Amino acid sequence: MSANKILIVDDEEIIVRLLSMSLRSDGYETITAFNGEQGLAAFKSESPDIVVTDIKMPGMDGLELLKKIKEIDIETEVIIVTGHGDIDSTITALQYGASDFINKPVRDEALAIALERAKAKIHIRERLDEYTKNLEQKILEATEEIRRKSNFQKLLIRSSNDAIVAFDHEWKIVVYNPEAARMFGEKTIDVKNIMTIQDLYTPKTAKIFKAEVKNLPDPTDMPWKEMMLQTRDGRQIPVQYTTNVLREEGEFMGIVNFFQDLTEIKRLEKELVQSERLAAVGQTVSGLAHYVKNILIGLKGGSYVVDVGMKKNNTEKLKIGWETIKKNIARVADLTQDLLTYSKEREPEFELCSPNEIVEDVIDLICDVAAGNNIKIVKETDAAVGEVMVDPRTIHRSLLNLVNNAMDACMEDEDTSKKFEIGIKTRRGPGNSICLEVKDNGCGMDEETRKQLFNPMFSTKSGKGTGLGLLVTGKLVEEHKGSIETITQLGQGTTFIVKLPYEIAGAVDIKEDGL
Ligand SMILES: Nc1ncnc2c1ncn2[C@@H]1O[C@H](COP(=O)(O)OP(=O)(O)OP(=O)(O)O)[C@@H](O)[C@H]1O
Ligand SMILES: [Mg+2]
Repeated sequence: MSANKILIVDDEEIIVRLLSMSLRSDGYETITAFNGEQGLAAFKSESPDIVVTDIKMPGMDGLELLKKIKEIDIETEVIIVTGHGDIDSTITALQYGASDFINKPVRDEALAIALERAKAKIHIRERLDEYTKNLEQKILEATEEIRRKSNFQKLLIRSSNDAIVAFDHEWKIVVYNPEAARMFGEKTIDVKNIMTIQDLYTPKTAKIFKAEVKNLPDPTDMPWKEMMLQTRDGRQIPVQYTTNVLREEGEFMGIVNFFQDLTEIKRLEKELVQSERLAAVGQTVSGLAHYVKNILIGLKGGSYVVDVGMKKNNTEKLKIGWETIKKNIARVADLTQDLLTYSKEREPEFELCSPNEIVEDVIDLICDVAAGNNIKIVKETDAAVGEVMVDPRTIHRSLLNLVNNAMDACMEDEDTSKKFEIGIKTRRGPGNSICLEVKDNGCGMDEETRKQLFNPMFSTKSGKGTGLGLLVTGKLVEEHKGSIETITQLGQGTTFIVKLPYEIAGAVDIKEDGL
């Protein structure tokens, strides 16, 4: 223990000297004074750790000295030396804050014990001071660390490329970063701690996020989903979003939404599809040349037969030649149509129409060729399909391509014993959709062919096909947000099922339904 400096104050000089000698021999440093005034002066100049003072002294007595010392430093340990019958003074000394009492005559052991006690107190106080200081330092450090982390998180949220919007348990917006401000077009100052979920999101979006509280019990389960976000100023932004439900000990604390703006990605995706398509068209020009050459040969052959017919005045020859020319003109028309459809980006043009009537039109176009090749066309249109908002051109072109393929499959089938048949069906599909089915019992496909069906310019028909038919059909159906299913078995036949969603007349906000 470090407290080592002791001030001894007594008017009896001999006692002071004896005590001083004894304490010095115990290793203490002592300062002596022979009255209260001298004691006070020594206290001020020497700053001892412990004071041992007699009570009764002429002039400033021990009590007065005690009081003055405590005024200067309340923590100084003052041991009072009392005589018999000093009860009153002892009580006053206690009130003034004396640490201990020893009786006169002062015995060395009693003084040693009192000093040990005083030193122990000083030591405890020093340790306490140290702990307090440490604690203060630790609190300072912890506060600084928390501040640093909080700043870091704030910076992270602020500089995030994702729009971050967080709501508290009452659905008030408590986090709203600059990217969110850009996306929603509302200033942070007007939103944070002011708006609620209903003020920022459309009622439909707000409902979805509120429902997520029930759907997402596990906070780590954060699937990214896509939606068309509608802002209050009427903009539609394609976004990818995720929600985290915040809970503390099972209690709902709020939610955080993260949004990623997909506008640019969608634009690039579109551009990519477009350029891939153009590249595919470019690539296949050489393939097409072969096909066009076949058409030209057909045309030349046709015109030769017409020439002969004219020369010989043979109407039969004229008829045959003219049919060949017409067939080849139709091939050129089809090719041009397919190329145009495939190379251009096109939005479906929805109009109220009857898919069953379109089936009739397609059958009208192909029935002669089918009959000429002994292929039976079986129509199974469901009246429940009625009139729906679809793009009639998509249906017409797709059906025509599928039926043409079906006829080719029948004509190419090596099994001539078959009674070839093509079924064309319509029906209502799930939700707001219709299904068109084209089924043939022709040659069917092997797995290798099935895999490549929708590849650009894939054809097994050598000069007789361009390989554009299904490519165009696939593109049209995709633009219509529909799908195509293929079921095929080699030697048995093929079924194509096209599912097309239709629009509900007068419905607004259809895009947000895709949430
Ligand atoms: N119903 C079907 N049965 C068997 N194979 C089919 C059927 N439909 C398509 N295919 C196969 O898919 C290939 C690609 O068809 P697609 O319609 O794209 O081109 P194509 O018919 O060869 O040429 P185009 O349509 O220009 O006349 C065909 O060549 C054929 O091998
Ligand atoms: Mg085809």
